[in-house]
Amino acid sequence: MIGHFRKTHSRSEKFHRRAARVMPGGDTRSVTYFDPYPCFMESGSGCRMYDVDGKEYLDFLNNYTSLILGHAHPRVVARVCHQIEKGAVYPAPTEAQTVLAEVLIRRIPSLKKIRFCNSGTEANIQAIRAARAFTKRKRVIKVYRGYHGSFDFDNSIDITFNDLEKAENLIRENRDEAACVIIEPVLGKGMIPASKDFLSGLREITARYDIVFILDEVVTFRLAPGGVQSLYKIEPDITVLGKIIGGGFPVGAFGEERT
Ligand SMILES: Cc1ncc(COP(=O)(O)O)c(C=O)c1O
Repeated sequence: MIGHFRKTHSRSEKFHRRAARVMPGGDTRSVTYFDPYPCFMESGSGCRMYDVDGKEYLDFLNNYTSLILGHAHPRVVARVCHQIEKGAVYPAPTEAQTVLAEVLIRRIPSLKKIRFCNSGTEANIQAIRAARAFTKRKRVIKVYRGYHGSFDFDNSIDITFNDLEKAENLIRENRDEAACVIIEPVLGKGMIPASKDFLSGLREITARYDIVFILDEVVTFRLAPGGVQSLYKIEPDITVLGKIIGGGFPVGAFGEERT
């Protein structure tokens, strides 16, 4: 099996050996690695990708959910090329970010103001920082095995996903130290949806103790035009976004429900 793979992916092997000389594991994302080496991609179009060895793949992963329109959608490509010709970034505001902010605010009822950043990781870090500044408390209550990006939590404790009774006890015990509760509406580890009772229960308990409720919709925003919160009719204090809102480009955003 591996012998066959090596035989049919000899260019990928060459690319990998070269990459591994300058990057640990031969990439900047360890998640893309598999033994003996990953296929190197050359191009993508719609739901298909093509590697440097001329093989075609059906892409069910969409770059870990960031490419809701598939690869190289003609309207995205045209828009990006149009902008790049005018310059990619300036040390000044642009209208384009206001347009995107307006679209998102129209779609998500709990959102009134947004701040953009470079990734979902950054957006979660900023959301937690905002919650700490707002409450003047430090502790973060998160879900066991919940994922919010590539950063380390400090001063955090875990609740169990979909166990409202235990969560309520833990939040009550920590109410004087807790700045926020942060949760993915669908737990990425296993893709387990939160029950409506669990999410609305957390919303109610956090409001009771003046703890900021952060909903990480970085992945779940693709499940409905207004995110999972619109399906469950829950209004968090802070919503965190990423992935699809950048059409495949690295971006993040977080926004609050106050005007
Ligand atoms: C729920 C969730 N939040 C945050 C992130 C981090 O986003 P990014 O990879 O843009 O930093 C991820 C990434 O997969 C995620 O699944």
